Amino acid sequence: MQADEFENPGMLWVARGANLWQQPEGPQARSCAGCHGEGGSMRGAATRYPQIDQPSGQLVDLEGRIRQCRSERQQAAPLDWESEPLLSLAAYVAFQSRGLPIRPSIDGAARPFFERGRELYHQRVGQMNLSCSQCHDSNWGRQLGPETISQGHGTGYPVYRLEWQGAGSLQRRLRSCLSGVRAEMFPYGSPEHLELALYLAWRAEGLAIDAPGVRR
Ligand code: HEC
Ligand code: HEC
Repeated sequence: MQADEFENPGMLWVARGANLWQQPEGPQARSCAGCHGEGGSMRGAATRYPQIDQPSGQLVDLEGRIRQCRSERQQAAPLDWESEPLLSLAAYVAFQSRGLPIRPSIDGAARPFFERGRELYHQRVGQMNLSCSQCHDSNWGRQLGPETISQGHGTGYPVYRLEWQGAGSLQRRLRSCLSGVRAEMFPYGSPEHLELALYLAWRAEGLAIDAPGVRR
């Protein structure tokens, strides 16, 4: 279902994203396309996230970069985390990198964020007292209720998930994992999400992006 563009429900978000890309917004009525050009101009972009934003020196993920462009460069109303337009634009941009290997940078200013991500990934949390690693490194392939635990690679995000009856970001998926072990969930856009995403991207280095994924 995921491989077939006509069967993959995530392609609806890609199509919506393609429309939004053309939509004039903000005081100067500029579209994303007005600055970035037409479809295909974002090929490769998704392979480099999360990355360090300059000059702030903060880590941003792809959704964060889109939110930033929208409010600062397009000067349009901000897009909420996990909103349909944000997921659609992210799916549209990520789809353009389908088949390309993930290549995050963990050097220089990114290093401390990466190290915190690594720590978080190995830290036991929640009432079940489990770390990400205990499920996705030590127990992948095992059943957890109706689910088979995977190696936990974020190559397909945003994904269409049947349980959500819609699309969701990697951050939403990580919140599901945390709630699964009865741990406190990180808020959307929090440093923890970005640090974990950078660690995950490093773990997945060389794997091809296959967004939009389809999940149960
Ligand atoms: C006024 C011009 C302008 C507008 C409008 C604009 N952007 Fe940007 N965008 C930029 C600039 C400049 C950069 C930074 C340089 C670059 O990476 O191309 C950037 C960077 C990006 C990046 C990161 C690319 C990469 O390779 O890391 C993404 C993704 C992006 N924009 C998405 C969008 C989306 C989605 C919209 C519409 C909601 C949008 N932009 C609207 C100017 C703009
Ligand atoms: C109790 C076991 C468990 C723990 C702990 C756990 N997860 Fe998961 N995770 C799952 C299950 C089950 C799924 C859904 C099936 C799958 O794709 O693996 C999942 C899905 C994922 C996915 C999506 C994989 C995909 O292909 O869609 C990522 C990424 C992920 N987890 C990362 C993490 C991170 C990071 C942590 C720590 C914050 C974590 N998980 C903690 C069980 C766990």
